[in-house]
Order: sequence, then structure tokens, then C-alpha cells
Amino acid sequence: MGWNSWNYFAEKVTDKDIRDSADQIVASGMKDAGYIYVNIDDTWEGERDANGVLHTNSKFPDMKALADYVHSKGLKLGIYSSPGPKTCAGFEGSLGHEEQDAQLYASWGIDYLKYDMCSFIPAVMMKQAPSDKAAQMRIMVAAYDKMGKALKATGRPIVYSFCQYGWDNVWEWAPGIGGNLWRTTGDIQARWESVYDLMSEQAGLASYAGPGHWNDPDMLEVGNGKLSLAENRTHFSMWSMLAAPLLAGNDLPNMKPAIKDILTNRDVIALDQDPLGHEARHIYSKGEVEVWARDLKGGAKAIAIVNVGSDVYSTHPFHLDLAQLGLHGSQHAKDLWTGKEMDLTANMPIELPSHDILLVRIAEPK
Ligand code: GLA
Repeated sequence: MGWNSWNYFAEKVTDKDIRDSADQIVASGMKDAGYIYVNIDDTWEGERDANGVLHTNSKFPDMKALADYVHSKGLKLGIYSSPGPKTCAGFEGSLGHEEQDAQLYASWGIDYLKYDMCSFIPAVMMKQAPSDKAAQMRIMVAAYDKMGKALKATGRPIVYSFCQYGWDNVWEWAPGIGGNLWRTTGDIQARWESVYDLMSEQAGLASYAGPGHWNDPDMLEVGNGKLSLAENRTHFSMWSMLAAPLLAGNDLPNMKPAIKDILTNRDVIALDQDPLGHEARHIYSKGEVEVWARDLKGGAKAIAIVNVGSDVYSTHPFHLDLAQLGLHGSQHAKDLWTGKEMDLTANMPIELPSHDILLVRIAEPK
């Protein structure tokens, strides 16, 4: 759990934004809720010197001092690079300098690396194996493996995040070469269609997630763009159901109370962080209502009922089918957004506003 600069600041991010965000993570209570990593995304990179040592650009005058500052708050610092010659935003990548860059990150005190494929595709994969897809994939895997080994060789624990948009079923091979999380999709955008697409693409990937290695449907857009409160709630709930990394991506110094309440909902975070690490599965859909379920430690279960349709009539009439969830008769549950105890009864009618969610935890499913 943490925060990343890209979704709000994009290429404008500066040292000051990172410090301010770290301050806010502490002041807002997000740190206490579990948000620990403060991740600088693309555009911090400067030029390499004659020895190949990469320097920061003028937006980040002193990376070591920044790391010290973030660490002094009890937080950790993440950074970003690419296996290609350039990053997605056209800054210096790590190609041919993997060991050197890994050592540099470690010397600064970096705790997390997001490694984004970008220019590696045209500059290396396409060039070395123009018409051999399988060979391109082998080259890609080798590049991620190379940086993984370089990070390991530093002796510093550095979380390794793969960003190659889910190519070649990354979930099958990433854990074997040291990946702690891997993007399963293209980039998220701060609008419902994107959130819904990415959530839908996770169906079928549940068995690949587990402690230490996670499917990453991309960073959170909670509080960004045009997402309504219901959409923000559903986005956060579903990422938690999916045991996804919770990397907030909003403007923390100007966060509205309602957004803070979503990002710091302890019950929903506990769902995300459940020690079993079992991701939710899509159980069934009826009309425009989707029902997902997740098994939790101690035999508990979480159920998410989402109206993915465009109006309230999408859920009308919707009757919850407990049998399809493997449940028998009335279930005592907690609504994780209202905090209220409730009973889920067989075939109970449920009406939800458009893009809203009923998220419940059943401590003792029957
Ligand atoms: C890619 C990644 C994004 C972000 C940008 C930065 O698009 O998928 O998450 O890191 O690059 O340039």
C-alpha cells in the first residue's frame, strides 16, 4: 500500500510534491491505515555522465536527501525506470546500465522499483526478433530477470513491480523471476469505463495472486477525474476484493474528506490485506449486476454486489441468489461502507444506484 505520483501529477511531479505527499500521508491518517510506499513515477531522470552514472533532473535536486526525508516519516520511497533506452515519457531508461542503476537506487535508499517496458518493445524486442513473437517474449522475460537479479545483488530489499501491461501472461512467470507485483492491463484512467474494464479483465486471474506476488490492475484513481463518489467507492472496494496493491494516486494536500474516508476505510483495507491473499472471483451476473466473492482468513467471506449499469433500474428487480454463492439460508453480515450489521436473506431484493456497490463481510458463512 502506498501512493504514486503518476495519476495526478504525471510529468509535472517535483521533489516538493513528493515531500508534501509524504507529509499528507502521515497527517491524513493514511500511514496509520497502512499506506507506506511513496512512489516517484516517470520524469525524475536526468542524463548519464561519462561513467554511465545516471543523474536526476532539476525537479529532483537530491534523491538521497529526499529518501532520507521520506524515511524520516516512517515511509518508504519508490522509483521508476524502463528496461528500454527511454522511459514512456522519453527520459533515460536502464538499458545496458541495469546493475549500475540498481546500485544507485540502493545507495539512495530506494525501497521499490516500477520497471516499465515502454521503448524496450521497439528498441530491443522488435529490432532483435522482428517477426518472431516467441523470441520477443523471451527477450522481454530476460530483461525483467536481469533487473531482478541486479536488485537482488544490491542486498537491499527492493519491491519489484513489473509494468509490461500483462503481455505474455506475465502472471505465469513474474513470481519465478522475483516479481512482487505485475500490471495485468494497460493504463487506468479516471473514468468509470476504464475502472470497469480493468476490473473485468481480472476475472480468471485469481489463482495467480498470493502473499508476496500480486496481480496489479493499475494504481488507484480514487479522488481523480470525473469519478462520482459511488464510482470511487466501487473502484476502491473492487481493488480490495481483488487483493490489488492499493497505490493511491490523488492530490493528497487537497484531498476532500469524502475521498479520505474512502481511502482510509479500515474494514475495506482489511479485506484487501487479508493474510490469505485469495483474490475475489466473479461468481455470477444478472442483467447489469455483478456478484463477486472472496474467501477470507478464518472461514469468513466477502461479497460485492455491483450495479455496473447506467441507472438504478439496472438493479430492478435484482434478487440475490445465495445458493450461487454456496450459501444456505439467511447470513449475518456487516455492510463495510455503512458499518451496519445486516442480514442477507435468500432472494432478497437489492437496489443500488448506478455504479454503486454493496460490500459485505460474512464472519461465519453458512
Ligand atoms: C506507462 C505506465 C504508467 C506510467 C507512465 C509514465 O504508461 O503504464 O503507469 O508509469 O508510463 O510515463
